[in-house]
Amino acid sequence: MKFFLDSAKLDEIDYAYRTFGIDGVTTNPKHIMLSGKPFEVAIRDIAQWVKDQKLDGIDKFPVSIEVNPHLDNADDICKEAEKYAQISENFAIKIPATEFGVEAARRLEKEGIRTNLTLVFAPAQALFAAKNGSLFVSPFIGWKEDNGEDCKQYIQDIVTIYKNYGFYGKTQIICAAIRSPKQIVDCAVAGADIVTAGLAVYKSAQHHAYTTQGLETFCNAWDNTKKA
Ligand code: E4P
Repeated sequence: MKFFLDSAKLDEIDYAYRTFGIDGVTTNPKHIMLSGKPFEVAIRDIAQWVKDQKLDGIDKFPVSIEVNPHLDNADDICKEAEKYAQISENFAIKIPATEFGVEAARRLEKEGIRTNLTLVFAPAQALFAAKNGSLFVSPFIGWKEDNGEDCKQYIQDIVTIYKNYGFYGKTQIICAAIRSPKQIVDCAVAGADIVTAGLAVYKSAQHHAYTTQGLETFCNAWDNTKKA
């Protein structure tokens, strides 16, 4: 399973890459806003960071950047996507799974611009991304589970559908809006390719009270071991 960091903040990206070895980044308008930078500055800074790490190439370290959510037709989405795709070969263009978003993603993939169909909340929506040949599809978890829905079956269904038709691995499933270690595990058990989560979630997933307790036990033992 790959771990993507859900953030546009360079310090978080750098920390997560060095600490948890993240495999990529996803952003959305909210994360760009939280970066405190204008959109193009934020994405160019991430593109430069990728270059500085010598991670050039979308297969090495994909960075999803989302088009202006106000765009309401495929032509305008394609125009904006073409502009931003030129900034970095690592960029996958995130497009909401609306009717015109699906059309735009299909057209862009035909031009060789990789896409990430996002704001997906049902298996039927995920099918469009696969039929488009999109590099990624982003079914959301947290927003549904925050409203009491259990997402295990929904992700499992997407994996099953993708395996049934040879899409699995070609359109990579990024489980998005991950809020807890449990959701990471649920997505991993279901066979999703990737999760994308904020830094706090990865910190929480890496931590366990018994690990801390065990370390204390071993430190005490070390300190009380007969010295040469
Ligand atoms: C990632 O591609 C999604 O935009 C993101 O995970 C949405 O979740 P959020 O509510 O944490 O931003």
